Parts: sequence; structure tokens; C-alpha cells
Amino acid sequence: MRGPVYLGATPTARAGSSELIYRGRSPPDVTDGSRSRFLDVDGYRIYVRTFGERNRARTLLCVHGGPGGTHDYLLPLADLARRGYRVVFYDALGCGRSDLPPDPRLFTVEHDLRVLDAVRRSLGNERVHLMGSSYGGLLVLAYAVRHSRHLWSLNSTGGLSDVPFAVREMRRLVGLLPARTRATLARYAARGEFHHPDYEAAAMEFYRRHVCRLLPWPEEIVSTLLRTSRPVYETMNGPNEFTIVGRIKDVDFTSELRRIRVPTLVLHGRYDEVTPAVGARIHRALPGSFFHVFPKSSHVSFWEERAAYLRLVEEFLRMAERTVPDEPGPGRVVGRNA
Ligand code: ALA
Repeated sequence: MRGPVYLGATPTARAGSSELIYRGRSPPDVTDGSRSRFLDVDGYRIYVRTFGERNRARTLLCVHGGPGGTHDYLLPLADLARRGYRVVFYDALGCGRSDLPPDPRLFTVEHDLRVLDAVRRSLGNERVHLMGSSYGGLLVLAYAVRHSRHLWSLNSTGGLSDVPFAVREMRRLVGLLPARTRATLARYAARGEFHHPDYEAAAMEFYRRHVCRLLPWPEEIVSTLLRTSRPVYETMNGPNEFTIVGRIKDVDFTSELRRIRVPTLVLHGRYDEVTPAVGARIHRALPGSFFHVFPKSSHVSFWEERAAYLRLVEEFLRMAERTVPDEPGPGRVVGRNA
């Protein structure tokens, strides 16, 4: 079954959130002219979408979050195709346009890493730049721990390596919501009614503050929310963003980050549901990494501060290309507020 899950907070819920939906066409500066294909991984089709095919020598592979989301909300990264990069997206197993296996036992970090590696190998480059958002950030960090030799650089945007700490931080943010919202969340959570419309409307209050602060939400973000794979999300994450009780709940590989041997960019939004404190932990554990906090962003800085985000990422990619592979850059905190 692949029903919409809305990450446990329907964008059409009450509380004035219907204005969240952007009903127009995609913003005109989303690069198009992409090419799509399916890649067979262990008998399941993985949907792969590429922008800037002619730039294949410099490839950026982007990994979405959820777990269970789709690549759509990452599309601002496709703007880099106009800056000389081949930008590649895919929908993970069970997600978006990729096949949904009947057996949820495949919905694991290990298997997602296997799919990531298969997509990377299919690109034909010895090394790629790798970017991941949120759970995608967790995946790319874990991938780099083992496979730095296949990378030019790494970018974790709103990513995490210590899920229990990230969850504690999310609970702290929930604690800062208005008292009525907190009471509603607590009331329905106690009964396990995570999909009650009142609970979802209250959850949306959290999302407007800590997932995307733009109004209305870009169509691509709404699309990812509406098409999130319920079997994957509920198996791996839980009923919503701030209730992580699924398979990833105990994941913590922070102590292994020091094995990453490529320049790494750690990006968060000031209001990020995966808080800057989570990013600071990654930065501290990873000698030579770069850390930046976008001052007006929450979880999707590539939308919320798109121009600044893309400028910073492009500068980082060029720097990484000048760095001898396996020798990470000098490391510094970038940006005045970080
Ligand atoms: N649920 C978070 C994400 O968006 C961790 O991937």
C-alpha cells in the first residue's frame, strides 16, 4: 500500500494551513530538461533523474530524506547544472517513482546505503560530490565513513549522525510551541492518535516553524510530503517528524565520523528541526569539516535561502575540487553566525 502519509501533518489541515500549498507552476528558475531512467538494484527499479548530462565529469549526487520522501523537494540543487555540474537525484527504494517491495525488511539504513552505492556506481565517475538532506544527510555521512575514496566532497544539509540526540533536540523545540498546541499534541499522542485531524493540525504548527518557513510552501515540497511512502516512513521514522520511534531511532555513528577523508560541509538552518546543535556535533566529530547555519532557514535552506545556499555550495565544490583527495580541507566555521 502506498497511501499518502503527509509526514503526519496534512498540508490541508486546519489552522490556516491551506495557504501553505503553492498551486502555481514550479518557480521558473527550477532548471528543467532532465532525463529520467530506471536502475535495477537487486530486482527493484530505482528512479534516477539527471540534470546537465553533458557536465558528467563533475557530478553531484543528491540524496533525499524522509526516510520515505522523494527527490522533488531537493530540486533547487538542479540549478547547479547551469554552473557546470551534472546533478543527479533518485527516489530511494519504496519511495516516489521507485519500486515498493512488499517486504518491509528491506527498509533499513544498510539497504539504503546499498542503493546509494549502486546509483553512484551507475554514474561512471571515479568520484562524485555527494549531498544529502535530513535522513539523506545521515545516509551520505554513513556512506562517506566507508567509501570516502569514491567522493570528492560531502554535504550534509539538516543531516544527523546521532538520532537519539536529534530527537531530544526536537522534543525541546516541541516544548517551545504555544501551550495549546503542546496540549493537543500531548493529548492525542497519549492515545496513539497521530493521524487525528486535530493532532495533524497541531503538528503542522511545528512544520511551519521547523521544516519550511516559506509561505506558501513550494509545490515541490508539498509534492514530497503528499507522496511520502507510508510503509517506508512509518517503518523507519515513525508517525511524524518529531516522533522518531521507527528503525532509525537508536542510530548513532558520530564516533565513526573521523574516518571521513573528504572535505565536508555541514549545513543547518537556525530554526531547523534537526537543530544546529546536531550539526555542531557532526562538525566537532569530523576534523576539517565546514559548518554554516543559515539565519533565516529551518530544514530546507536550499529553498528558504536558495541563492545564498547555492552560492556557498558552489564555492565549496570548487574548493573541494582543488583539494587533494583523501586530505580534507583545513576546516573552519563559515558564515558570521555559525
Ligand atoms: N525525518 C527526518 C527527515 O526528513 C529525519 O529525513
